[in-house]
Amino acid sequence: MFLSLPSHIDTFNMRNKIVAGNWKMNLDYAEGISLFSEIVNMVKDERKGSQIAVICAPFIHLNSLNQLSAGVVKIGAQNCHQMESGAYTGEISAQMIKSAGCEYVIIGHSERRQYFAETNELLAQKTILSLKNQLTPLFCIGETLEERNDGSYFEVLKKQLQEGLFNLSKADFLKIVIAYEPVWAIGTGLTASPAQAQDIHFFIRNEIKIKYGADIANATSILYGGSCNPKNAAELFAQSDIDGGLIGGASLKSRDFVDIIKALND
Ligand code: PGA
Repeated sequence: MFLSLPSHIDTFNMRNKIVAGNWKMNLDYAEGISLFSEIVNMVKDERKGSQIAVICAPFIHLNSLNQLSAGVVKIGAQNCHQMESGAYTGEISAQMIKSAGCEYVIIGHSERRQYFAETNELLAQKTILSLKNQLTPLFCIGETLEERNDGSYFEVLKKQLQEGLFNLSKADFLKIVIAYEPVWAIGTGLTASPAQAQDIHFFIRNEIKIKYGADIANATSILYGGSCNPKNAAELFAQSDIDGGLIGGASLKSRDFVDIIKALND
């Protein structure tokens, strides 16, 4: 006689494996179309497995990329505003992003925290609005070099999680993807070693476990970001708590980006 597993087991033990590119403020309209078309064709031909490929592009590209994506590569935005709509000249809402065909949105990238003074409280608002509009937040956390050196980084990361995300219900938290991006590794060519990254990912998953329980912690995808490239990706992705990557510079080169996707096993 077979004992059947509780129905939630499959869902809870399967974490999505995701490689998301973050183009930042690069590529004009024609360049974006051209790079994205290359990426879609290469992913179509070369991807083996169920890794999810995402490109988070500047707003001007989103609608066109969605037309070209054929569902092969998902589209994300790099930010959204914290209010639903209204007199906020120059801003873009979560609903607008959704209407352009996006499924993802980066929330709390360290460049937004640093250059636009985005606080954990503000990011919590953006997260709630993203979820309300059926967007998956790629919620970024990470410590600066100073915080790494003075040893306060676990506290910093814990605070970012608590204030940014831990106000969510269990059902909503299950829809979040976390990206750990040590600020000292972003765009610097310095990468966290696989062991350093694994330590932090384990810590993050454990904090989720304390707050929401083991099932939800085990179901949460946690991506690594910071100078990830085709040479170091496989070793980083082989760590047990690393479920993929958020890729800046290397996502601007189709070959590099697709090789990073291929370095992620199911
Ligand atoms: P990088 O950027 O890969 O160029 O270091 C990562 C990021 O900022 O998301």
